[in-house]
Amino acid sequence: MKTKVIFVKPPGDDRDLLEAGRALREGAVVAFPTETVYGLGASALLPEAVLDIFRLKGRPADNPLIVHLLSADDLEGVVSDIPPVFQALYQAFSPGPLTFVMPRHPGLSPLVTGGLETVAVRFPAQPAARALLLASGVPIVAPSANLSGRPSPTRARHVLDDFAGRIPYVIDGGPSEVGLESTVLDLLSDPPRILRPGRVTAADIEEKTGIRVIRWEEEPRGDEESRPASPGMKYRHYAPRAEVRIVLPQEDEEIAEAFLRVLEVMEGSPALFLSEESWDEIRARLSEGKKNVPLPPAYTYEGGRNLDRAGSHLFDGLRTLDEEGPSLILAEGFFGPESAAYMDRLTKASRMPALVRRVLFICEGNTCRSPMAEAIFNDRYRELGFWAESAGIGVIAGQTMAENALLALEEWGIDPGSRKSRQFRARMVREADLVVTMTGLQRDFLLQNVPGAKGKILSAADLTGQGDIRDPYGQPLHAYRRVRDQLGSLVHEIYDRLILTESK
Ligand code: TXA
Ligand code: MG
Repeated sequence: MKTKVIFVKPPGDDRDLLEAGRALREGAVVAFPTETVYGLGASALLPEAVLDIFRLKGRPADNPLIVHLLSADDLEGVVSDIPPVFQALYQAFSPGPLTFVMPRHPGLSPLVTGGLETVAVRFPAQPAARALLLASGVPIVAPSANLSGRPSPTRARHVLDDFAGRIPYVIDGGPSEVGLESTVLDLLSDPPRILRPGRVTAADIEEKTGIRVIRWEEEPRGDEESRPASPGMKYRHYAPRAEVRIVLPQEDEEIAEAFLRVLEVMEGSPALFLSEESWDEIRARLSEGKKNVPLPPAYTYEGGRNLDRAGSHLFDGLRTLDEEGPSLILAEGFFGPESAAYMDRLTKASRMPALVRRVLFICEGNTCRSPMAEAIFNDRYRELGFWAESAGIGVIAGQTMAENALLALEEWGIDPGSRKSRQFRARMVREADLVVTMTGLQRDFLLQNVPGAKGKILSAADLTGQGDIRDPYGQPLHAYRRVRDQLGSLVHEIYDRLILTESK
């Protein structure tokens, strides 16, 4: 099969698009640009065409597809029950990079939704995507147009790299503006819950609509087993052949300095992903000193270091650098809750253990040591997008924090709010990136009780080299102060060694 590439033409001259739209309606697969990434499109109304999508991508059948529509008028036959919050969200963000999970219409093929009773729908803003929807006159299912396990495509060329000769049409609408896949929002949960982070953040939604949503990294409180997240999130994605490591600046460090620090200790020949400005600075610094340092290959984006620009170039950067066959790609990281989507994709591209964002502290009763550690950690780093929680191994449920623990924290200006002790569950350990116990015995207990979590459970002493942190329960305030100080150092150590120096 020869793949026809259709370049988007000025309005009025859309014969080729009409041809592609007709072919899609009749069962063909058409790749098309959206503002997020390129999609591999087929008619949602033709089960055979939907199956073709799974076959072409090598995608597991239980990973549901997003249905693309022109407007809310087209929800009929796709969604059975429109949740009340939909209207305000649609008004504020559609068309655009926000996907809504709603109840599936019984008439919609379950192949589309991987057998789920819910369906994801999105209203793309990209003009060529809208023109194709109009020309075809059908709802279009479209996953990202990459082979499963490859970085998502943000250029027509990327689609051709993966599918040339295997699909009849690719519409070339230039580079995707956002560059990262849409935010997936579950409207069946109350409040709505972000299942996949994207350009539209929880803060954007709250600001524009006043609707509070559960952030992607936030877990529903309570002891209920959490609802299954977006099925697609469990698969490893976005992986180039090279190993990817994230470079983050330490406190008071410029990003260029962070790259230089990492380059110094790196073996082999890494390639870099960063802004042109940072690259210029690194180049100048490298040629300043030792003349014989070979310059690493770099993919740069224009302008200064900027989260949105980095996001729109990330997948092109990973694909382009990968072609040169480096063993390692060093990519710039960003802090802060608004960087969740970018950091998520980068972490998934990495074969290394995930960047530590979510820490679980464990002690015995969850009334003194672990909730103090949680409070200190969140006080310092939550604003940056990192997260701590705590639980105990032998908990009397529902206990408040020890009075002296609260006093010791208050002296540091930290208010943990009212919280109740909770029993550790294997699920919490599995969902955390790092689990820190107060003693070696607690670590060993978890290792025995949560198979498969080896490698991410460490004791305080493993991290600080200072010995266990002992239970101050029932002792006077000075004992709690000592524990607080120990926890302060522990938290600092975690941040320094595991979060910031992830890239070392
Ligand atoms: O930006 C995007 O969303 C792009 C463009 C082409 O629109 N599409 C895209 O599709 O990223 P895909 O198939 O690569 O990712 C769809 C994500 C997966 O994580 C999938 O598990 C999730 O959406 N999803 C789809 N239907 C769902 C449902 N009913 N419930 C929960 N998650 C769902
Ligand atoms: Mg995808």
